Amino acid sequence: MALEFSPETYKKFEETVNRYPKKEAALLPVLCLAQKEFGHLGQEAIEYVARLMEQSPARVCGVVSFYTMLNTKPIGWHHIQVCRTLPCALRGAERLTSFISKTLGIEVGQTTADGRFTLSEVECLASCGTAPMMQINDDYYENLTDEKVTEVLASLK
Ligand code: FES
Repeated sequence: MALEFSPETYKKFEETVNRYPKKEAALLPVLCLAQKEFGHLGQEAIEYVARLMEQSPARVCGVVSFYTMLNTKPIGWHHIQVCRTLPCALRGAERLTSFISKTLGIEVGQTTADGRFTLSEVECLASCGTAPMMQINDDYYENLTDEKVTEVLASLK
């Protein structure tokens, strides 16, 4: 069966598109809806969104590949996104990523064998004042230390 939005998500799609003066301007929020519905944005999802938005799959693919919060591959239940932009970098983001990598036994861009965790590095998440920080799914974890990260990961297992 072809990939398509559930009736509820299709209603949200229509509401989203109607909030913008031009349909094409709603592409990013529609992609976020699609990711929530389908889990990730593989080729079939990209082509479906392209049809809905009356845009070429290449253009939709270009937008998907630009934004780190959009995933083209399946991800773990807990998507750990460590900010690597300058303020977080100056406060130890790289070392923190290495710590998480070592703790979970995966490299950046990989998912644990049990499918629970995916580790990514992302650009500024607009919480620079509480660097270093990470986002896991929709939640922010700030002013991180190894101890805090250990606690957070343990609470998610
Ligand atoms: S630099 Fe990390 S949140 Fe802005």
